[in-house]
Formats: sequence, C-alpha cells, structure tokens
Amino acid sequence: MLNLFILCACNTVVDAVIVENVVKRFGSFTALDGVSFSIGEGEIFGLLGHNGAGKSTLINIISLISKPTSGVVSVFGKKDRSLIGLAPQENAVYADLTCLENVVHFARLYGIKNPVIVAAHLLSVLGLDGKAEARARDLSGGMRRRLNLACSMVYNPKLLILDEPTSGLDPIARRALWKTIKDVQKEGITILLTTHYMDEAEYLCDRIAILDSGRLVDVDTPLRLKRKTLHSVVTVELNKVPTSAELKRLSIHPEDKVLQSGTTITIECNEPERVIPLASKVFGEKIARINVNNPTLEDLFMKMAEVKR
Ligand SMILES: Nc1ncnc2c1ncn2[C@@H]1O[C@H](COP(=O)(O)OP(=O)(O)OP(=O)(O)O)[C@@H](O)[C@H]1O
Ligand SMILES: [Mg+2]
Repeated sequence: MLNLFILCACNTVVDAVIVENVVKRFGSFTALDGVSFSIGEGEIFGLLGHNGAGKSTLINIISLISKPTSGVVSVFGKKDRSLIGLAPQENAVYADLTCLENVVHFARLYGIKNPVIVAAHLLSVLGLDGKAEARARDLSGGMRRRLNLACSMVYNPKLLILDEPTSGLDPIARRALWKTIKDVQKEGITILLTTHYMDEAEYLCDRIAILDSGRLVDVDTPLRLKRKTLHSVVTVELNKVPTSAELKRLSIHPEDKVLQSGTTITIECNEPERVIPLASKVFGEKIARINVNNPTLEDLFMKMAEVKR
C-alpha cells in the first residue's frame, strides 16, 4: 500500500506555471481579461497573438515583475524570482560593457560559481565567442539579442521566459537559437516563449496558448489547434477514372469531403495519416501520385483574422 502511494506520488505531473483568472487593467483599459492555463514541467509553451494581445503583459506578471489586478500566478507553486530567467522583449544589457562583462555581471548578481567560465560557455553556445571583448553598443541588432539571451540563461533557472527571442535574427541565427532552446529543454528547464514567427512556434512548442485582445482563445498542441479549424487536403491522381464503388469505399468517414474530377480525387480531411493508406488500399495500382497539403499555424492565424473581420 505504502509502495503504491510512493509510486503514485512520483508519477504526478508537476505544473511549472499556473495562471488562474488573471486580469490586468491599465486605468480603464483591460489588457488581460480572465486568462487561465497551466504549463507542465519540461514543456516548451508558446504564447501567440497579435501586437498588443497582452503577451508581454502576461509574461511580466508570470515573471513577478508586475502584479495582476486580480487573479493568481504561481511558478512551481511559489512566488520566487530566483526560479525564473527572463529574456525581455527589449534588450536588457549594458551598452558600455563588453559581452563577457555583461554576462559575468549577471552571473555575479545571482551568485553563480565560476562566473567567467560560465559566461564564456554561454557566449560560445550563442555564437558570440568571437565578440566576447566587443562592447554591447558595437554589436549588430541580432547579436545584441543573443547577448540578451545569454544574460537570461546565466541563472540556470527552472523556468526560462523568452519574449520574442529571435526577432531581428537572420535565418541561420534563428535556427541556431532553436537548437539552443531545444537543448535547454533537454536539461529539464521549462520554457515559455512568445513569437510572431509561426514556423518557429510550430517547430519549438509542445503546446500553444492563443491570446486575442487580452482573452485566451485556446490552448492546445499545434497539431490539435490546426485540426480544430482547418483541414488537410489529400490529392490522389489516378491513371484511370475511379468507379462509383471505389469512391463509396473511400467515403467512410462522415467528416471527410471527397470530390472527384476525372482522374483527380481530392479529400478534405482531418487525418491524412488515416486517409492515405485507405486510398492506397482502394485504388491500388491505379494510383499515379498522392499529394498532401497540410495546414500551417500561419494558415490558422490568417483564418482567425478573416473570421474577425
Ligand atoms: N504600462 C502600460 N500602461 C498602459 N498600457 C499598457 C502598459 N503596458 C501594456 N499596455 C497595453 O496593453 C496592451 C498589451 O500590451 P503587450 O505589450 O502585452 O502586448 P504584446 O502582446 O506583447 O504585443 P507585441 O506583440 O507588440 O509585443 C497594449 O494595448 C498596450 O498598449
Ligand atoms: Mg510584447
């Protein structure tokens, strides 16, 4: 009985962040209007939404920089800043210090052992080792962004919050940073990030919360978010016109929409991984080509904007 209890306790999924009914008002303006969700330990969690949706406001509340008007936020069940590393949207580095001095400064502030070694390592991880002695003011915009990130990672936090970490980075640097973020997750660190790059959110995030004018629209995995609203399109090109019996065998799922035009069949569906084997079984050697067009998160946001208009 005792063993069973210990086993159950060990398997409990820990919430890294709990956001409960958070409201934030600036005067008469409501920036956040009753937002609730939780982030599991070890997740990469994305916060998406248009300019002014409330992402940075919420991040400031989760980081304990500002207080909600009402509602509750906790990080690993506590209100403890030392658990949280924050790379803010505006770079928070000292322009007159060198890159190394900047990171060492933050390392000392948080009592990190061997600050110079840790700082040099972080600069190398973020591709700034060649700029260790350069002043922050002399860096390019993208390099300053990476320095900002190095400073936020120095605390070895349990929760790392990145507000638009890759804005202003070139495509190569962006992808390098994606790898760094995945590597940080492998260390067991939970990550909350905002981004306006949908490919980035899709690649990095285990789950995503969508904010719209301070309200939470939905929270789910990127795949489920897309499938709730959008279809995949499977196009099957045949080398012979299909028989009505074959088309009937294909239309077994009520949500699928099967259209035929000559030897081309298009199937709007939610699960192409179910439809493709079925089409292969039904048409066998008649198939010349199968093409799948899956929706992207960008398609979802365009659709949401269209619905609002
Ligand atoms: N200190 C403040 N005083 C008044 N209004 C504020 C304050 N901070 C934020 N706001 C307002 O709250 C809303 C949400 O701003 P926020 O910075 O959270 O948006 P965001 O989703 O991060 O946008 P972006 O993608 O542009 O960074 C905006 O309308 C903004 O003007
Ligand atoms: Mg913002």
